[in-house]
Amino acid sequence: MKTLRRTALLTGGLMLGALGVVVVPGWFDDAAAHEPELSRYGYWRDIRPLLEQHCASCHSGIGPAPVNLMRYLDALPWANSIARQVLERKMPPWLPDDGTGLFAHARTLDERETDMLVDWAIGLAPEGPAPADEPEIPGAATDLPMSRLTLSEPVRIGEMESEASVCRPLVRGEGVGAAAAGFALIPGEAVSILRRAVLLAGSECATGTPIFTWVVGQGPRLRPEGVFDRLPEDADLFLHLSYRKGFDTEGLEFEDEPQVAVFPPLSDRTRPVETLAVEPGTTAVGPATLLSVLPPEGLDPGPEGFAVETVGSDGAVTPLLRIRRLDSDWAEKFAFREPVRLAAGAAIRVSHPGAIVDLVRPPASGPDEDR
Ligand code: HEC
Repeated sequence: MKTLRRTALLTGGLMLGALGVVVVPGWFDDAAAHEPELSRYGYWRDIRPLLEQHCASCHSGIGPAPVNLMRYLDALPWANSIARQVLERKMPPWLPDDGTGLFAHARTLDERETDMLVDWAIGLAPEGPAPADEPEIPGAATDLPMSRLTLSEPVRIGEMESEASVCRPLVRGEGVGAAAAGFALIPGEAVSILRRAVLLAGSECATGTPIFTWVVGQGPRLRPEGVFDRLPEDADLFLHLSYRKGFDTEGLEFEDEPQVAVFPPLSDRTRPVETLAVEPGTTAVGPATLLSVLPPEGLDPGPEGFAVETVGSDGAVTPLLRIRRLDSDWAEKFAFREPVRLAAGAAIRVSHPGAIVDLVRPPASGPDEDR
């Protein structure tokens, strides 16, 4: 039954119109049915918790995405689109294919969650019993201490510009040292059109080393315990910003001043992140611990996809990351949930030029904990 319903939906048989009540013949999996089968799931009881967990970071009305899914009447017109987006795996946006590494901060739905959303949407998206008070959406607030990097001058996006790509030098605020435990982006006025940001260190933006990436809806990113990112004091810092307007922002003018929050490292963070640009083919890196991978900028990965693997000293190959649909809006530093340990002699193998890998090396002296 599920399969048939899904097929009907994907082939466009389903026409949940703006109000979700347009009934098209041939819509149902059950040929005997003359009325749409009301989903057993209710919005507030079953669906809202899923949307809150997986979609609220972007779709809460104040966030960057154009659709508010946190209230029934706002979400209802989008029911059909929700089903399509989750079945086609476009939402939540997440690039890595299944079956490779496990990532921290992954944005994925499991099969049960997908089925629930689809069942609800094609079952006329019922509201079900509503709570007395509308539940609040938990904010992404953090109480970590932080200092700030600010733009040397604000970015202006004219009303005729529907896309913009801008790189600006950053000014170090009070308390920003040469090291950081992690970063967050604090959006400015143009939060609705800012698509991606990359913090770079170097002498110029184009050749700088990417230290931190931000994509829409992303909260703070902290390195694992004991590890810090370098913000070398002899290097300049830049923020590369990508903007794109949507149907609701076309024709508007923006002045934007996003900031980067820098979380200062505690003294027990003793191992610096090394950021390497790795060439296609095999590069010996062990002994080391891999933390994250950033796919190449602007890459067309081809049918095989962009792939990263480790090759052990015994030749054993372990896939770490594969991306077939590389949408650059969502290209971030993909951090492994468990940092990947590479023994001496082990290598990393990437498929395309321009991939960036973050790793830490064991201390030069003392016991080699990576073996
Ligand atoms: C990380 C941010 C993010 C998350 C999480 C996210 N979305 Fe989206 N969503 C977007 C953005 C941004 C757009 C606007 C289209 C675009 O630029 O890709 C969008 C667009 C949509 C649309 C409208 C598509 C259209 O027809 O134009 C729907 C429906 C949608 N999302 C549903 C969901 C659902 C359901 C979830 C959770 C299961 C979800 N999204 C999670 C960012 C997100």
